[in-house]
Amino acid sequence: MKNKSIYLWIVTAVLLIGCSPKNGVPGIPDEKPADWDAIQFNYQRGIYGGAIPKSYHKDITSKDGEKNHLGKHLPYVPALTRGRVPAGFLPIMFGNPALGYTPHPNAPRSASDPDGHWYTWIKVRKSTPAVAKEMTTNFDDWPTPSGKVNGKIIAYQGEDPSADKGKNTVYLVQLPEDVRPGDTVRVWGYCLNHGEYLDFVRIPEK
Ligand SMILES: [Fe+2]
Repeated sequence: MKNKSIYLWIVTAVLLIGCSPKNGVPGIPDEKPADWDAIQFNYQRGIYGGAIPKSYHKDITSKDGEKNHLGKHLPYVPALTRGRVPAGFLPIMFGNPALGYTPHPNAPRSASDPDGHWYTWIKVRKSTPAVAKEMTTNFDDWPTPSGKVNGKIIAYQGEDPSADKGKNTVYLVQLPEDVRPGDTVRVWGYCLNHGEYLDFVRIPEK
């Protein structure tokens, strides 16, 4: 009996240590936690874990920074008319106005911004604790990626993704083969100017 108590104590301690955030920085979850809070997660990981560059911390921590800067970088699936998204791809935009977030602008390379301003990679993985393949989609230019990468960009409305300061941009990202309509996936992207952000979205049924 005593041995069993010691065993349970050790198992509990190992689990607690393994799941605890390191120095307050949360680890990357493979499955969407029941108490998932995208703003809180990305704030902690961005400010204390180095995922967001220091040059952007002032904006993130400002009065409305969570909506105007952090929420602006969180992915969502826009509603698009049928047939606009090729099979095997998922449309992604950043900064969902329906949640009160500022839509994310995009910009080409320029003299004042040599890197440009867009998401250069977006990774998608099925939300599951099991082993699952993560697909990376790359974007080497904006608004038209070269044929050397697997990323595609379309316009949300009309024909021009660069309209409305680039807020009309829809990123088309490749889905892993094990993802089905109705599944939840983890979307992890990197904005050239503002760092890494991660959230979970649901694949539309239709
Ligand atoms: Fe950005």
